[in-house]
Amino acid sequence: MEEIQGHIYDYPKYYDLVYGSDWKAEYEFLLKVIDRYSKRTVKSLFEPACGTGRLMIKFAQSGFRVAGNDLNANAIDFCNDRLERHGYPRSAFVGDMSDFKLPKRADLAFNMINSFRHLPTEKSAESHFKCIANALNKDGLYVLGLHLTPLIGDRVEKESWPARRGNLAVISSLWSESIDIKNRNEKVGMSFDIYTPTKSYRIVDEMDYRIYTAKQMIKLLERVNLFQLEVAFDFVYDVDEPICIDDSVEDVVLILRKK
Ligand SMILES: C[S@@+](CC[C@H](N)C(=O)[O-])C[C@H]1O[C@@H](n2cnc3c(N)ncnc32)[C@H](O)[C@@H]1O
Repeated sequence: MEEIQGHIYDYPKYYDLVYGSDWKAEYEFLLKVIDRYSKRTVKSLFEPACGTGRLMIKFAQSGFRVAGNDLNANAIDFCNDRLERHGYPRSAFVGDMSDFKLPKRADLAFNMINSFRHLPTEKSAESHFKCIANALNKDGLYVLGLHLTPLIGDRVEKESWPARRGNLAVISSLWSESIDIKNRNEKVGMSFDIYTPTKSYRIVDEMDYRIYTAKQMIKLLERVNLFQLEVAFDFVYDVDEPICIDDSVEDVVLILRKK
């Protein structure tokens, strides 16, 4: 199969086919979190690093006002085109999740699948929390999902999953290439195998993710001191099954309340 080096996020059509099919569990989980944990009525949502807006479109269709930002202009165009096609404003904008200001505050922000770990430094992570706190109304919730680096037990090192729509099939793979604990960096390989009736090829990418142990994450939240950790779940997204954050935990969804 022909292989090209490329940036996976530059291919929103393929990204959305793979990840877009996964929207339901996260969407239903977020609705339950709102129902159970929000002290305020939630009418508006903000998604930092929204990518193609696979969740934004579902929430827009349920009557929420949605907005998002992302560094990748291709993803933002894709997201806005879809919102517009369905009759909603082009409310996603190109921007850095560690340096932005919203014209209108939201009632809840969500960031479900590790995008936060793209922020390369402690300073940018702190700045991200400041921007999110600023973007939220009083008591607003921030739902933050990421993989921590467990110090006990095994890590999931490779995942692969297929997706298909009409004549297009994409097999996505994600694997951990190396971990540098000292410099808090994980190199993650990612590929899309693309199959169309006329061609098939593979796009291969390598991305940097910042590492957080459970303690490092908790410390960061304490230092920033803008959010209260209300409760945590894992990627099973079951609101009836909160988890304890300890050194064995890997996937975690933090429910943070603006102080
Ligand atoms: C794993 S994707 C998640 C996209 C979307 N949140 C979702 O759930 O499908 C990560 C996204 O983070 C974006 N990203 C990385 N660094 C960013 C930054 N500093 N500010 C905004 N977006 C960023 C990438 O462009 C990419 O679209």
